[in-house]
Amino acid sequence: MKFFIDTANLNEIREAQELGILDGVTTNPSLMAKEGISGKNNVFKHYKAICDIVDGDVSAEVIATDYKGIIEEGEELITIDPKIVVKVPMIKDGIKAIKYFSQKGIRTNCTLVFSAGQALLAAKAGATYVSPFIGRLDDISQDGMELIAQIVGIYRNYDYQTEVLAASVRHTMHLINCAEVGADVVTCPLNVITGLLNHPLTDSGLAKFLADHKKVNG
Ligand code: E4P
Repeated sequence: MKFFIDTANLNEIREAQELGILDGVTTNPSLMAKEGISGKNNVFKHYKAICDIVDGDVSAEVIATDYKGIIEEGEELITIDPKIVVKVPMIKDGIKAIKYFSQKGIRTNCTLVFSAGQALLAAKAGATYVSPFIGRLDDISQDGMELIAQIVGIYRNYDYQTEVLAASVRHTMHLINCAEVGADVVTCPLNVITGLLNHPLTDSGLAKFLADHKKVNG
């Protein structure tokens, strides 16, 4: 399973990259706004800075919601760096644009996916990634993980090449459950990735090993 980090914060991206387990980055307009990035030039510079840190794919989301606008924006975004994947919302014009991009060999991430039917449309249009949002479904008392499993199953039935990129991952159990049901990718905040490191028996075991070593070695 690939690990993407879901942030536009350069320090967090650097820290995840230095861990040696990072496969890519996803951003969205809210995450860019959180970093105070505004204006086209600054936004493009920021995406370039992200691409310079990571080895893998970097999802950059379009703001346009009409077919022509999505195409124009996507074609500009991919000039930033070959790592850029055009993130397109799950709307009618978005699906048409994903089809256009896939025919041109431009990689896409279909975002804001909340149902198996939407995921099926994204795959048929040729999306590189589909992003179902687990946490936001859980927030409204629907089982986000069930949706991931359902999409993984449907894609396997027909051998769709679209990768299931589990998004809105809020905690370590989301991530582990994604691995259990066979998601291709998870995208999550840095603290979810580093949270996987923790176990009290690791801490107490290491403390004991070091204390025993000290007893005989001083
Ligand atoms: C996906 O690509 C989104 O950027 C993200 O995962 C949304 O997560 P949130 O629901 O925690 O905002």
